[in-house]
Amino acid sequence: MQKKTRKMLVTYALPYANGSLHLGHLAGFIQTDIWVRFQKMREVECLFICGCDGHGTPIMIQAEKLKLAPEKLVGQVRAEHQKDIKGFLIGLDNYHTTHSSENQALVNIIFQRHVEKGNINKRVIKQAYDPEKKMFLPDRYIKGECPRCQAQDQYGDNCEACGATYAPMELKNPYSTLSGIKPIEKESEHYFFKLQNYAALLQEWTREGHLQEQVTHKLDEWFQVGLQDWDISRDAPYFGFKIPGENDKYFYCWLDAPVGYIASFQNYISCHSEYHFSQYWEEKNKIELYHFIGKDILYFHTLFWPAVLSGAGFRTPTAIFCHGFLTIDGYKMSKSRGTFIKAQTYLSHLQPEYFRYYLATKLNDQIEDMDVNFDDFMQRVNSDLVGKFVNIASRCASFINKNFSNKLAKNMAKPELYKAFSQEGDDIAKKYEKRDFNQAIRQIMALADRANQYIDERKPWSMIKDIQLQPETHEVCTLGINLFCLLAIYLKPVLPAIAEKVEAFLSVAPFKWADKNKPLLNHTIQIFQPLAQRLEKTQIDALKQAAQNE
Ligand code: 2FM
Ligand code: ZN
Repeated sequence: MQKKTRKMLVTYALPYANGSLHLGHLAGFIQTDIWVRFQKMREVECLFICGCDGHGTPIMIQAEKLKLAPEKLVGQVRAEHQKDIKGFLIGLDNYHTTHSSENQALVNIIFQRHVEKGNINKRVIKQAYDPEKKMFLPDRYIKGECPRCQAQDQYGDNCEACGATYAPMELKNPYSTLSGIKPIEKESEHYFFKLQNYAALLQEWTREGHLQEQVTHKLDEWFQVGLQDWDISRDAPYFGFKIPGENDKYFYCWLDAPVGYIASFQNYISCHSEYHFSQYWEEKNKIELYHFIGKDILYFHTLFWPAVLSGAGFRTPTAIFCHGFLTIDGYKMSKSRGTFIKAQTYLSHLQPEYFRYYLATKLNDQIEDMDVNFDDFMQRVNSDLVGKFVNIASRCASFINKNFSNKLAKNMAKPELYKAFSQEGDDIAKKYEKRDFNQAIRQIMALADRANQYIDERKPWSMIKDIQLQPETHEVCTLGINLFCLLAIYLKPVLPAIAEKVEAFLSVAPFKWADKNKPLLNHTIQIFQPLAQRLEKTQIDALKQAAQNE
């Protein structure tokens, strides 16, 4: 009987189209990409979908500032994102945009279905309004003194000094950050999604194993507070989709953002007819659906999104995987501290795989923040990648190349060692599957230590001098190259470009996970080329300097 292929659709949170990607975005993309690459190596039919999030007030304001039409800004930023994503070797299948015809059609359908179900109501609310700019102000565009601790220049939703949360009009001496004048209160009719209608569904869904335990606990707190109606409309001027039947009201960008996952998929399948929309988004349990996100957007993905989907007749996600934030040398990324590192800045100084590797040594399935400490970064890359992994090949390859006409022996010196390495692959796979990348790397590096230890003991560079020992040296180096090959297979989800070079060096087809059981014997390889250079402190300093000057 043929084994049933696992099929899955994986997404990473859609970055806003008002700015460049930075290392924080890349950390999330890389986590997702490692997992996706692992799945693809296991011959899971896996699609990795993303796109840019093109709507909302900040994008409108940014476009105004640049004197560009917002559509144009979204187009430009999207192209820049695509370049960065490729630069970090993220193997996305599609990077679409929420400002697309597919998304608009889907949002309209979803909205209509909820209207028909009685899940939407309208009511008039009062909001802060900037009479000079003639627009309602999102909380972030109002500043003033904290009503609790009187700290100056606090945003309209919470105080960074004392942590108080409040409504923007509670600020003392509030002012619009756009015009500087005092906002007034103005009434307007809004559309609300009655999240409470989905309370029972959500209580069940959030406890069925779709979420990390920590997230479930957080949600319990939210359930206790009670599910509030969700305001899904915004008044003009706004950059988004118009609400059907309205002249100056738009859907709030957070309604159409996750729908962008579906739209990106739909856009992809318009030229890949082997995929079927209904299998992915309507039928339950046929396809696995995973969303990787940062911890700041949990509420949207674990409450609104499942409710919006299921109420509109779509399937709900198999799981939401949430990660923590990236800090640099112990600090939140900040422009003034020079710890705000754009993707492009990193790429003009260092190789993408060094960051991918370092991140993998930190990542697990929890929501902990991850710190990039540059001294540690340099040490990890030099000691693990250059000193341990690549070293195995460079110590054995030259003999195969020079003394044995590039051909591996018919037998390996110590097949049981190869077998042990190959068996550990099952354990490593479990760690990748569980997103315990740091544990997977730890185990792989322990294997690298064992391989180096073996080579140290056998010393092929001495053996080769004794003509009698030549056949044995051949078998020792053949084992060394095969152990190296296994490590390259195990590291491929993290280091796809290096793995590709290893494939070329070994003259083999792209590695699959199952290749761990196929030793290369009596097989011709190519001349070994250096695979990774040591990282120098000057390179790190130059990167930090460039980040500071941005
Ligand atoms: O927080 C953000 O960066 C949003 N642009 C994420 C959207 S994810 C999804 F819902 F589209
Ligand atoms: Zn305060």
